[in-house]
Amino acid sequence: MKHKTIIILGSSRPFGHTRTIVDYLISHGNEIDLVVLSDYNIGYFDYELKNEDDDFHPLLTSILGYDTILFATPVYWYAMSAQMKTFFDRISDVLIGEKKAIGRQLRGKVMGSLSCGSDQEIFEGFEMPFTQSANYLGMTYIGHTHTWLSNAETIPKEVLPRLESLIKKL
Ligand SMILES: Cc1cc2nc3c(=O)[nH]c(=O)nc-3n(C[C@H](O)[C@H](O)[C@H](O)COP(=O)(O)O)c2cc1C
Repeated sequence: MKHKTIIILGSSRPFGHTRTIVDYLISHGNEIDLVVLSDYNIGYFDYELKNEDDDFHPLLTSILGYDTILFATPVYWYAMSAQMKTFFDRISDVLIGEKKAIGRQLRGKVMGSLSCGSDQEIFEGFEMPFTQSANYLGMTYIGHTHTWLSNAETIPKEVLPRLESLIKKL
């Protein structure tokens, strides 16, 4: 069966810097699909599952059809974006009660993470929620790629080899 890859973009703007990086991966990679979280209505995690009828569950169901999931986020305050964190929080919906069988379907899938910041340096700790979440969910983690743009629009030459090596893993 054909290996399917999806990128989940969690930025406060759908066509910002992180999107520039994601578009490079899609145009240079092989049949990579894209989900833009800001196109969806995804509420915070609620202990009483008050948001269970929003867009999260149908979206997660469609994502479960993929083998590799790359989480692409800007760096906001040294961490993943709030949109991306909310997506991870909502995975808790499918780890409890009658929806547990849905969460289990993440097991065995492949996860990677990508960040786009204004700094070339990514600080220790940024990647940990991805590695530990992959571990907790039983997913295989393929690593983190940090990126940035020069002049706020061009992908710098130092970043291109990182993207090429990521494409080989997707
Ligand atoms: C709220 C906010 C917080 C930010 N915090 C950081 C940060 O901690 N480190 C960093 O390198 N860049 C930081 N930046 C810059 C963004 O990460 C950078 O401009 C990124 O390329 C934006 O991607 P986007 O257009 O997809 O939002 C921040 C930007 C915003 C709006």
